[in-house]
Amino acid sequence: MNAKVETRLLKPTPEALALAAELLRAGELVAFPTETVYGLGANALDPAAVLKIFAAKNRPADNPLIVHIAEREQLNGLCEVTPTAENLMDAFWPGPLTLLLPKTAAVPDAVTAGLVSVGVRMPSHPVARELLRACALPIAAPSANTSTRPSPTAARHVLEDMDGRIPLILDGGDCEVGVESTVLDLTGEEPEVLRPGAVTPEMIAAVAGVCAVADSVMRPLREGETAPSPGMKHRHYAPKGRMTVYRGRPERVAERIRRDYDRAENACILAYREHIPQYGDRRVWELGRDEAGAAHSIFALLRRADEQGISRILAEGVRDEGVGLALMNRMARAAAFDIVEAED
Ligand code: TXA
Ligand code: MG
Repeated sequence: MNAKVETRLLKPTPEALALAAELLRAGELVAFPTETVYGLGANALDPAAVLKIFAAKNRPADNPLIVHIAEREQLNGLCEVTPTAENLMDAFWPGPLTLLLPKTAAVPDAVTAGLVSVGVRMPSHPVARELLRACALPIAAPSANTSTRPSPTAARHVLEDMDGRIPLILDGGDCEVGVESTVLDLTGEEPEVLRPGAVTPEMIAAVAGVCAVADSVMRPLREGETAPSPGMKHRHYAPKGRMTVYRGRPERVAERIRRDYDRAENACILAYREHIPQYGDRRVWELGRDEAGAAHSIFALLRRADEQGISRILAEGVRDEGVGLALMNRMARAAAFDIVEAED
């Protein structure tokens, strides 16, 4: 890294948004809230600005970035918009759905890591929208965490990872969804989910007729296998402590977790609200009331575990349905696929 910069953390006032837009136009990086997680943005049309993202995050150069826009017209000249893409944009934009479409030469290779497709998304968060409108540029933005750390869902998470590396973080409060957007590949025969998110395969199929899910979504990559989405081959969402996810009937899950907790040192349990009483006076943190609540809080809980020096994380799993698929995809990776089926 170059000499340290002073990182400002500002509420999204009109002045702060104007400053952010000016920094982006000048080829600098700005972190901003979206409805999913915080993004680390740069002018997508400026290769030198885009390369700063990879340096600040310590991100492998072969992992492509998503391009964020405020208006659909901004896609003109950047990618080929297919009829299916149009229908999906009508249904889910602005919102947590990224579409992979054939790119044009106008998109720098630094953005797409040399791939022939580009990921595009129109976020719904009002601060993201205002910023994108103010700078009037397509903005390349990965999640604003250091590579391998959990994605940031609050401005302070971004500050933890990016202090001294970027000039500005816009603080828009906690991100509502909490897991990153659905990444949908539209370059093949049928739409295929490469990364699950809040826009589920069922929701996509209702609009596009069909929707496949890459089978690597819920398992580790095999030796020598190429990842359909480069992001999936890199180590992800890794807490410092060892994590295990438990699935099955709630009573059996609680039994296994209690047993493993009592054998471990410095452990914490991640449990749904209604199951918390089953853990007595053990250290238990609430995932939420349901899958959506757990998606909202999972990354913040993993960061809390790191802060508190937790060495063992025992987490209740969920069904792979609805946003549960996205949640289990992240939890399975955080646990390096250490998943226990609590048998009857
Ligand atoms: O919700 C989100 O998508 C957030 C916010 C900031 O918008 N962004 C985000 O970006 O999660 P990032 O870079 O952390 O994750 C992007 C994922 C990576 O797994 C990457 O490999 C994949 O999308 N991706 C992007 N462009 C791709 C492409 N052309 N082909 C295949 N995969 C692509
Ligand atoms: Mg990321």
